[in-house]
Amino acid sequence: MKKKFLLLFSLLVFLGSCGQDYNSNYNDRGTYADIGIPPGTPLYNSYKILQNKCFSCHAAKWQDFKTNQAWIDSGEVTKGSFDTSSIKTNLVNFGGSMPLPPNASLTDAEVETLRSWVNGL
Ligand code: HEC
Repeated sequence: MKKKFLLLFSLLVFLGSCGQDYNSNYNDRGTYADIGIPPGTPLYNSYKILQNKCFSCHAAKWQDFKTNQAWIDSGEVTKGSFDTSSIKTNLVNFGGSMPLPPNASLTDAEVETLRSWVNGL
């Protein structure tokens, strides 16, 4: 009986250790929990994309922009207008050069996430 319990317990510990709640890309900065933006918000989802693909070069300036207003005030984002925002016009997807190598260009889904965030501001 004791043996069975131990076996079950070890199995639970083993399974519990498989969970990973963040993306471990080489240029990912930190985990979801420590960004300081409410998870699931448009800002949060967009910040994660910029963090993955842009912060390896732009973090010094951008990592402290943790509110919508901070992004608007920085001039990187034009309130309610993704198409005229510099985070869009500089993208390699739209004729610009960002992100510079070695970072991969944004996927269509990532672009749409940024679009709905900025257009919704
Ligand atoms: C490998 C480094 C690197 C990465 C990654 C990178 N950038 Fe840049 N970015 C630069 C450099 C260097 C400049 C300034 C020189 C230039 O314009 O080429 C710049 C300039 C910019 C500018 C214009 C200046 C400013 O600060 O407003 C924008 C906007 C921009 N990047 C957006 C992005 C976005 C969005 C991403 C991610 C999708 C990104 N960059 C990823 C290096 C990078």
